[in-house]
Amino acid sequence: MFHIDDAEINHIRENADIVEIVSSYIPLTQKGKNFFGVCPFHNDHAPSMSVSSEKGIFKCFSCGATGNVFKFVSDFENISFVEAVQKIAEKVGITLKSQIVTKKAKKNSLEYQIMDFSSLFFQNNLMTEKGLTALNYLKSRALDEDTIKEFQIGLSFSSNSLYELLKTKKYENKTLVNLGLINQNGLNFHDIFVHRIMFPIHNINGETVGFTGRIYQKDSTPPKYLNSKESYIFKKGNILFNFHRAKDAIRIAKKVILVEGNMDAIRMYSVGIKNTIALMGTSLTSYQIQELKKLRVPIVLMFDNDSAGNIATYQNGNLLEKEGMNVSVVRLSGEKDPDDYIIKNGVEKIQNNIKNAISFLEFKLSYLKQNKNLQDSEDLANYIKEVLENMKDTTDPILKEITLKKLSEDYGVSLVTLKEELEKIRKNEQIEVKITPKEESQNKNAKSADSIHHILYFMMNDPKYILMYKSKLGYFKDANYRGLANEILAYYEIHKTINLADFLTYAESSKLKEEIYKITTSIKDENINEQIMEEYIVAVRKKMKEQEIKELKEQQKQELDENRKLNIAMRIQALKKEV
Ligand code: GTP
Ligand code: MN
Repeated sequence: MFHIDDAEINHIRENADIVEIVSSYIPLTQKGKNFFGVCPFHNDHAPSMSVSSEKGIFKCFSCGATGNVFKFVSDFENISFVEAVQKIAEKVGITLKSQIVTKKAKKNSLEYQIMDFSSLFFQNNLMTEKGLTALNYLKSRALDEDTIKEFQIGLSFSSNSLYELLKTKKYENKTLVNLGLINQNGLNFHDIFVHRIMFPIHNINGETVGFTGRIYQKDSTPPKYLNSKESYIFKKGNILFNFHRAKDAIRIAKKVILVEGNMDAIRMYSVGIKNTIALMGTSLTSYQIQELKKLRVPIVLMFDNDSAGNIATYQNGNLLEKEGMNVSVVRLSGEKDPDDYIIKNGVEKIQNNIKNAISFLEFKLSYLKQNKNLQDSEDLANYIKEVLENMKDTTDPILKEITLKKLSEDYGVSLVTLKEELEKIRKNEQIEVKITPKEESQNKNAKSADSIHHILYFMMNDPKYILMYKSKLGYFKDANYRGLANEILAYYEIHKTINLADFLTYAESSKLKEEIYKITTSIKDENINEQIMEEYIVAVRKKMKEQEIKELKEQQKQELDENRKLNIAMRIQALKKEV
């Protein structure tokens, strides 16, 4: 991914009339200041989408879709934000500085050219007479020629063959070494891959960035797999094997299957389970997790049938669940890994396994039992504590209920106790994250949230309201809202101005995106003026004081020292007056 400068993006947006751009996709009719059309993001016939040139945003009053011109184009065309920026820049005749750089890096880059060239060389080797043993090895592993072609599988020969060839192309030694294909030893240069079956590794755009080479002869020197060294186009932590091929299938299947080995992914793909990608034997990095999260589909972990696979399922599952992903698990039995399993049992059997994947929580229940003797009360107590700790990120309430019931029935611990313990664990973790509205005051809280939403919405629209917030309110109690307010302040500090359309661009890649989406869609009354802002501020201030009073009262109850008790009472009195 590359980065387009914020200022450049804002410049493009200022020059792109959203009404003009949107109307090149859907017909719009003018009513007053705004334009209206049929929203393309939900099934509708009525013109419920309004588009405002002045504000630079579109908004559907029916489904809530909202955003600036980049969001419209990227959602409509199903392209990335950056692609949408490029597209609009072209439409309005602005030459992107950053784009020129990427075009070069992408299309003409020497590095990709060398990688592609090497890949073709390896592929060709495999089909020569000298490649016969390797080809037979692949066939013995039930890989047919179509699969070999599709995955561009090749073969490396003796110590200098790739280097000799690349040298004739006049590539600089330094570049070849940097790409992780060639080793330098004093004045000599050698291929890194010798007598290995070569699998190209691609980035998400399908460009070849590296190789992994497998031994195939009995007397070969380990390691079993050798990867090309990291280079500036190949960062292992950013790569998931087969991602670029699986993308479409993942969208169609609405599910992604993650396996451990590239051979597993190749097998799955070749038997038609194309929504499969592989980890290449490592743990998920946060970059990879973000890429997976972007798919917005549930993930199925189907790792090897050994204890390493079990541990990997537990660890990676936890990482994914923490990020709010829907995780389920397949544990195969009998064969070592999905590849072997399919060869022995066929596609249907593995399809069935995938269909019957268990929830990650259910997996954890049995995983945590390992090495524990649940007849022993200490072990049992530990087990239950670990299970509850593992449940705190589970968002599905039904699953939670079922699990607690099962625990209660299986081990004779009362359901009430389990719930209380779980609540304790959750509270300890949650205090900073969110104030969950209590039932009796839900209505009031909803109102207060509404006021906060309006304040933040106003702030995103006009610097005037940022200044009002700073002088008259200063902070929100809720950490999420406070975070967003701070972000708005920071944006204003840098740009010295603000408008919603640009701020949406800025927030596109941040954690705040969802919060902002919630706010922009919840605003029904767009009437903005200082008087209304003032009213919302007063409402929020009042609410915060009431809450403070409540907290002080709690403190007062707990306090034993009479002097301090009195002090608290006085503070409560003072606050009450203000309210
Ligand atoms: P096959 O034995 O060819 O079926 O491979 P596999 O896909 O079953 O591999 P395995 O389960 O042994 O390992 C999973 C993944 O870990 C592989 O796909 C490789 O990416 C990686 N891996 C395995 N062995 C090695 C090794 O020796 N070195 C390195 N760097 N990676 C390895
Ligand atoms: Mn295998």
